[in-house]
Amino acid sequence: MQRKILVTSALPYANGPIHLGHMVEYIQTDIWVRFQRMQGNECYFVCADDSHGTPIMLRARKENISPEALIRRYQKEHERDFSDFHVRFNNYYTTHSEENRELSEYIYLQLKKNGHIHRRIVRQAYDAREQMFLPDRFVKGTCPRCKSEDQYGDSCEKCGATYTPSDLINAVSVLSGLTPEQRESEHLFVRLSNFSEMLQQWITDELAQKEAKNKLKEWFDVGLNDWDISRDAPYFGFKIPEEKNKYFYVWLDAPIGYMASFKNLCDRENLDFDAYWKDGENTELYNFIGKDILYFHTLFWPAMLHGAGFRKPTDIYTHGFLTVNGKKMSKSRGTFVMARTYLDHLNPEYLRYYYAVKLNDRIEDLDLNLEDFIQRINSDLVGKVVNIASRCAKFIERGYSGKLSSQLDDIELYEKFAGARESIAASYENRTFSRGMREIMALADQANQYINDQKPWVIVRDSSKKEKLHQVCTQGINLFRVLIFYLAPVLPQLSKLTAEFLNQSIDRLEQVDSPLLNHRISPYTHLMHRVSKKSVNAMVRDSKDTGSVEKQPEKATVSIDDFAKIDLRTARILEASDVDNSRKLIELKVDLGSETKRIFAGIKGHYQPEALVGRNVVIVANLAARKMKFGVSEGMVLAAGDDAGLWLLEPADDIAPGTPVSWNCKIKITNCQRSLQSTGICPRHNARSVVTRVARIMQMRFTPKKRTSIAVHQVANLRFRHWQDCFIKQK
Ligand code: 2FM
Ligand code: ZN
Repeated sequence: MQRKILVTSALPYANGPIHLGHMVEYIQTDIWVRFQRMQGNECYFVCADDSHGTPIMLRARKENISPEALIRRYQKEHERDFSDFHVRFNNYYTTHSEENRELSEYIYLQLKKNGHIHRRIVRQAYDAREQMFLPDRFVKGTCPRCKSEDQYGDSCEKCGATYTPSDLINAVSVLSGLTPEQRESEHLFVRLSNFSEMLQQWITDELAQKEAKNKLKEWFDVGLNDWDISRDAPYFGFKIPEEKNKYFYVWLDAPIGYMASFKNLCDRENLDFDAYWKDGENTELYNFIGKDILYFHTLFWPAMLHGAGFRKPTDIYTHGFLTVNGKKMSKSRGTFVMARTYLDHLNPEYLRYYYAVKLNDRIEDLDLNLEDFIQRINSDLVGKVVNIASRCAKFIERGYSGKLSSQLDDIELYEKFAGARESIAASYENRTFSRGMREIMALADQANQYINDQKPWVIVRDSSKKEKLHQVCTQGINLFRVLIFYLAPVLPQLSKLTAEFLNQSIDRLEQVDSPLLNHRISPYTHLMHRVSKKSVNAMVRDSKDTGSVEKQPEKATVSIDDFAKIDLRTARILEASDVDNSRKLIELKVDLGSETKRIFAGIKGHYQPEALVGRNVVIVANLAARKMKFGVSEGMVLAAGDDAGLWLLEPADDIAPGTPVSWNCKIKITNCQRSLQSTGICPRHNARSVVTRVARIMQMRFTPKKRTSIAVHQVANLRFRHWQDCFIKQK
């Protein structure tokens, strides 16, 4: 039976760009929606910009434009970002719309009519110069509990205390810098306790996620507070009907924006709005959200809907936050990556797949580890999946004019692949995407194993096995085809390219029940490229907020002679392991070309030991050995760091271990053909070893037939590549 489903993602605020943290939810929802459609269900996906509130009003003022102009600009930008990540909404709208005004007024008036609204005087921080009441986040001061300075008016980032702005010590308005006054104003409240029983029932019956239920139980235990839904002018939002100069708080009309966006779609496409919003209908409604807005979606939102006679959500699907490399996203580390910056450097499908690998049905945070990201994409998507097609297609193309055989080589194996459909569908349905991806990759391993066993590149040499080769390659293409059907909700672009390659549309999962036989496919063109570390690094570099590093006090000047005493060298990390019982140390074994050293480096928590192996670093090679609790440390690894983090200094990948980091290395080397003899001697280094190293790296240029010479140069750069370009000339 075809299900009728309406799905939403939370509405992003129209005053800032979309970043990779936001993208977790839009990608998660989009995958789920695409899956529903591939199951043959009718599924609508709507969203909008959340366009009201004080921050938007003030941002527009600062830019000297109208709030309408500001929200138009952001809506356009957001729509472009989502679309480039292949997130396809049926409608992307704004909360600043006539549909939303009408629905918000209607819901409010229903709540009022049904006795759920009451009034109360509220004392609130007021900025006399700006002539406005201040939201909590617009007041800063010293935390009343831990006395940390510069804390927001609602909570302390240092000790976690929560309070009101009037509790802050030395509070100031962030707008004018003046001490806020305390002024009174009448506010309108929704009496949430009126809905207590209904909410408890709804939560017990409908919400599937345990962690959400537990959190809600905590909230019920402390008691539900009334909800303040009005704000005084000046405010950018909808005026409250039957009131003077009062506006709906942004969080009242934001979720109603889900309805308004759908209403707008219904009017455009002649759909039945009531079928999805009237109480008692057979349709399903799901709101995908982040854990920070659980309270709004599991208490206020269903209460509003219920109080105004609408249906409540079938379920609320909540996800955790994104961390990058195990930490909160950070501008100074370059891990606060905007959607657009990512798109400037990387294929959106890489991220879609990586998030799918990490997502499950729980409210836990997920980590985007950039090293793991590169490795996953290259090994799973490029190495395993796409590889299957590229290994088989050329035989079909060359030997059989692009036509698949009329029989498979191994029907059982095909049936095994097709038989995984239900279990993979269940992973999508339950949002345990990580489990689904694991199952798909296990199948990809089997497909590759099959090809390895059959060895089409060997069969092709035996002209009596032409039919066998045809069936083996047809089998390979068919296994690949099933995998792409399974991955299609995650990788719409790859599935589109595959549909073109197979000359068959990829619409419904059930299509995998029958294999593709006796069918002409198109010539194979490359379907996906490997991720390069260079692109990931470039994305991080472009995400760095360079202005964020505080000026550090300078140290006393040292003479060149003092500096010359330090023997800096490049080294390669051979082994790395956490030191037990130490909070800071990682034990490293490093290669210095002619020797190895053991070093205890205070970098624990900043790097995973396994991610360090193979990296090039710079070390102080002549530091006196130090006896430590855990052993003797024979050098020091150089790193830069501050409160924001720590980064090892990394010379270029192709530098040889043991290369001196030298600022005045005068090497005169001529006639290094064949013998690689040096005629000049570096004052500080063994020139011969340098030349040998150059030769090793520059094999191509040091062919015995060519005369090569290296001119005299000052080495002022760590990067060996620079040497290559500057110092080596061919005659
Ligand atoms: O937290 C936020 O970013 C809000 N703009 C989400 C609103 S979701 C819905 F309720 F509108
Ligand atoms: Zn504090």
